[in-house]
Amino acid sequence: MNILKYQFPIHGDERGKLVAIEEQNDIPFIIRRVYYVYDTVQGVRRGYHAHKNLQQILICVKGSCKILLDNGHEKAVVLLDKADEGLYLANNIWREMFDFSEDAVLMVLASEKYDENDYIRDYDEFIRFISEQQ
Ligand code: TYD
Repeated sequence: MNILKYQFPIHGDERGKLVAIEEQNDIPFIIRRVYYVYDTVQGVRRGYHAHKNLQQILICVKGSCKILLDNGHEKAVVLLDKADEGLYLANNIWREMFDFSEDAVLMVLASEKYDENDYIRDYDEFIRFISEQQ
């Protein structure tokens, strides 16, 4: 399975580090929404959905977590534990997020505003949806 990670430049100096992300320059889409997941209860697994159109970049800006990606044919687990690394999630990918460290802050850059109609929250429906696309 093709995993696309973006390595963002770190503008570090003696004061510390800074990462800047510009839409369409550092990532391939216009950012219409940013959200972040934090204070995640230990042992929790979340996500369990795919998107029909939405593209996202996931950045664990603090701590660590794991992301399961599933395109309906193959699955992969990606560890996110670097503030300068972004995982690209295209549409039509089932995702689950788990193994959050206590301090984890998972920031998500999204190509669209929140739209519940873009979600596929049932795995069998996801499999049907992607087979109809082919
Ligand atoms: P949910 O989709 O369950 O999160 P996850 O995919 O990480 O398991 O979202 C949790 C709640 O937050 C749910 O009530 C919907 C709401 N929400 C928004 O209002 N806007 C957003 O951009 C997102 C991602 C979620």
